[in-house]
Amino acid sequence: MIEPDGLVLGIETSCDETAVAVVRGGREILSNVIASQDELHAPYGGVVPEIAARAHLERLPLVIDRALSDARVALRDIDGVAATRGPGLIGALLVGYAAGKAMAASLDKPFSGVHHIEGHIFASVLHDDTKPPFIALVVSGGHTSLFACHELGSYEVLGETLDDAAGEAFDKIARFLDLGYPGGPAIDRLSTRGNPEAIDFPRAMRNKGLDFSFSGLKTAVVRYVRGLEASGDNLKRADVAASFQEAIVDVQVEKALRAAKERDLHTIVIGGGVAANARLREKLGRAAEEGGVRLVVPDRKLCVDNGAMIAAAGHFRLSQGISTPLEASADPALQLSSD
Ligand code: KG4
Ligand code: ZN
Repeated sequence: MIEPDGLVLGIETSCDETAVAVVRGGREILSNVIASQDELHAPYGGVVPEIAARAHLERLPLVIDRALSDARVALRDIDGVAATRGPGLIGALLVGYAAGKAMAASLDKPFSGVHHIEGHIFASVLHDDTKPPFIALVVSGGHTSLFACHELGSYEVLGETLDDAAGEAFDKIARFLDLGYPGGPAIDRLSTRGNPEAIDFPRAMRNKGLDFSFSGLKTAVVRYVRGLEASGDNLKRADVAASFQEAIVDVQVEKALRAAKERDLHTIVIGGGVAANARLREKLGRAAEEGGVRLVVPDRKLCVDNGAMIAAAGHFRLSQGISTPLEASADPALQLSSD
């Protein structure tokens, strides 16, 4: 058990960010260090699991030192340790998870293994002490999910992607348009110079349920670009990017608001890398205002993978005396508990 104002060190290494943070009382971020591996994976157009694991191994000790020094605390001041247990890339997860358990054991402090998606939801708790009930839209490179949350720690899945995650669709289309990796931020930037109404791409399952599907949209973009190339017409990549982004954003905005309405909940929180998207933040903000719903939009640095969200989720459990046994391993397919 740790005190309510205890210091938790959070480690996140599930994908391609080596991230460590120190958070006091589950709310106050003393440091939040993110070492991105974008430049290592860019030549391959996507995350290479072995390269990610090796880079985590090389960088994690430095990132931990930096997080402690930025927070102006010593290792012995830490009251508990949290690390992402899953889901994610097994080699990448193992580095941070094993390091977190080893730190907790050697300091004789409690340890919490955190579900990555719960971490993304805790970004909103960190941001402005958001309390349930709320709808959570988590949109990242690996997930596109809508949850209803009536109390922290318990999440009811309302909708999920049936194929690609939203971030995956951004990354694949960016690669197809030669915009580099990671694709989301590249499309976000290029779209500011394009017309979002230039091309009417499909909004799959727009009016049907709360699940998502992006594979048809991806195919439509590829077919459109190939058709233009074949006819020799001028391709305005900015228009393609903006129209593609608009289609993805529209579906997310509509489904998030519909979920709130159907469940009669008046707060929506967003998280995950795609929640850093400027157009999504803008359109969701407008729709929430019109629908009388409070929208919680964490800072961009809390939307992308980071250690602070993991520390906050870990603090939530450790401060109730709930810790994860050190025998438990990292789990690349970890399920989000609904109890
Ligand atoms: O949450 P995250 O950092 O890692 C995962 O848990 O997957 O999300 C990464 C994803 C990538 O697909 C990236 O392209 C996307 O988030 N992303 C964005 C933006 N920034 C990151 N997508 C759209 N617009 C952005 N500004
Ligand atoms: Zn993530």
